[in-house]
Amino acid sequence: MAELLTLSRHILQSSQGHEGATGDFNLLMSHIATATKVVSRQVAKAGLLNVVGKTGETNVQGEEVTKLDIIANETLKIMLDDLPVVCALASEEDESFVPTRAGRTEGRYLIAFDPLDGSSNIDVNVSIGTIFSVRRRVKVGVPATEQDFLGPGSEIVAAGYAVYGSSTMFVYTTGSGVDGFTLDPGVGEYVLSHPNMVQPDRCKVLSMNHVHRARWFAPTRAFADHILARDEERYVHTTGRYIGSLVADFHRNLIYGGLFAYPADKTCPEGKLRLLFEAQPLAMLIEEAGGAASDGRQRILDIEPEGLHARATLVIGNKHEVELYEHYERTHEQ
Ligand code: AHG
Ligand code: MN
Ligand code: MN
Repeated sequence: MAELLTLSRHILQSSQGHEGATGDFNLLMSHIATATKVVSRQVAKAGLLNVVGKTGETNVQGEEVTKLDIIANETLKIMLDDLPVVCALASEEDESFVPTRAGRTEGRYLIAFDPLDGSSNIDVNVSIGTIFSVRRRVKVGVPATEQDFLGPGSEIVAAGYAVYGSSTMFVYTTGSGVDGFTLDPGVGEYVLSHPNMVQPDRCKVLSMNHVHRARWFAPTRAFADHILARDEERYVHTTGRYIGSLVADFHRNLIYGGLFAYPADKTCPEGKLRLLFEAQPLAMLIEEAGGAASDGRQRILDIEPEGLHARATLVIGNKHEVELYEHYERTHEQ
């Protein structure tokens, strides 16, 4: 039998010899992973527990909330609240950040998460996921403020996601490459299955919601037309895939090579996806995997969100296509 490298051992091994790496941080990472295992189980049993469907409420973003959004959010908050090293949590489903019970002022870390990404796919058994990022506080001993969460994404010390698909996977980075783990449900452990993930430099997949074309601004249309024309050798074999769960679209493109773009448009002038909860963590992952992420004008990781729920255009994947998008943004009038 081949050696099984579990996530906990991997976290421990990769932190050895790292300056500033502490047991606290390892514990935090393991705890986040365990929380996603619990959410994975809830997702798998959703149809049996009568927790599919909407709650009838809308969230701070004005979007319909599903029952599983709430369950995943509460699960993550309860599990992460337990850790004294964590000072505060910010969730896509909550208007304000939540100081933790245990680590209210002394905790050195802040965690931001999208508890369930791809909510519209929950009821139909299509892949969804959880996205997270971790920041280290500059100053401890005082209560956290919203501002603590609003630095540029380059301040993130760890980011990752769990994708609840045909199998559950956990993919993360602490700034030295990206590793992917598959949940072995029998053992209950994440096991290293995708070491050192690097995005292939080819545009196998273009992921955009083309039904929104009428709302797109001219540069986005010109960019999509460039690829769809297939004039260039690079795009002859490009195909279209769009799940509607960012995390699952991202995961597929990371493995196959390609680009995901959700642009600001005439009805969403700021864009739809959230900087803190979605764009920043995935931007860190893609850069670590050799790709790029931009809002069409600048690197996602250089943007300082104006609030917890600030949105942006997200163009993420191979450098070549991200630069092509930026080219059209520079050269075409909106
Ligand atoms: P969430 O379920 O966390 O609200 O995110 C939904 C997002 C994202 O996952 C996806 O890429 C996008 O919404 C899909 O939007 P459209 O239906 O407009 O394409
Ligand atoms: Mn989301
Ligand atoms: Mn969500």
